[in-house]
Amino acid sequence: MKKHHTITTESGRYYLTDQIREVVNFRLTPQSRGINPPPVQQPVPPGSRIIKLPNLETWSIPPCDLQTAIASRESHRRFTAESLSLDELAFLLWSTQGVREVVHEAAVLRTVPSAGCRHPFETYLAVLRVESLEKGIYRYLPLDHSLVYVKAVENLSAHLTAATHGQSFAGQAAVTFIWTAIPDRTEWRYAEASYKVIALDAGHVCQNLYLACEAIGAGTCAIAAYNQTLADELLGVDGDEEFAVYIAPVGKID
Ligand SMILES: Cc1cc2nc3c(=O)[nH]c(=O)nc-3n(C[C@H](O)[C@H](O)[C@H](O)COP(=O)(O)O)c2cc1C
Repeated sequence: MKKHHTITTESGRYYLTDQIREVVNFRLTPQSRGINPPPVQQPVPPGSRIIKLPNLETWSIPPCDLQTAIASRESHRRFTAESLSLDELAFLLWSTQGVREVVHEAAVLRTVPSAGCRHPFETYLAVLRVESLEKGIYRYLPLDHSLVYVKAVENLSAHLTAATHGQSFAGQAAVTFIWTAIPDRTEWRYAEASYKVIALDAGHVCQNLYLACEAIGAGTCAIAAYNQTLADELLGVDGDEEFAVYIAPVGKID
């Protein structure tokens, strides 16, 4: 069990401001000390099963008017029993964390913005109904636009519901996105000034998921109320160097 930290109103509000920047010594950050940046994507264990995803040139996703998508975006907590196609899943992954351009090892541009181009997230998927994918936990590899199969989980739906404090729609989705943060990536450049921007970065990712869902007759709902220990255990992350920060179940809607 991890130690509990107390956040007061004062410390919480301080965190939302940018006053921290005035006290951080940026000459001492790992970047300023010439240390290599952490990898932009977590390594893949040898022998893993990799699933190459369809891309912008090959998938069949209907065009979607941006104004209509913005106007109709809303949170959905009821899904049909329909599956997502692999094209649709690939489109959602690209929309949320897809790579646009690899400038160099410390600058990989994506479809969402990120403070200092640090992109501190990994995307895990709890797959329940996606055509051609067996149920289980997967992780997106943005640099390869592929999935790595992480593991099978018995009673995955029940685990998702438990990990979200009984929000059963997380276990009724076709696929539930669970984003983890790797704070080291942002700390490499911003040290203690990282935490607010990591939280800001997560918002862009989830909003793109909401909008991309509009293009494929699907819906999602951001979840920030979850059980940290259960969510981290479900993914098999250590809860310290990497931990769940945001969850979004996705399914087809009527
Ligand atoms: C950061 C964040 C956390 C949220 N957490 C939850 C949640 O845990 N459970 C839930 O049902 N909805 C959650 N929501 C969805 C909000 O309740 C929803 O966005 C709000 O009621 C407005 O509805 P709309 O998204 O349809 O416009 C969250 C939304 C955000 C942005």
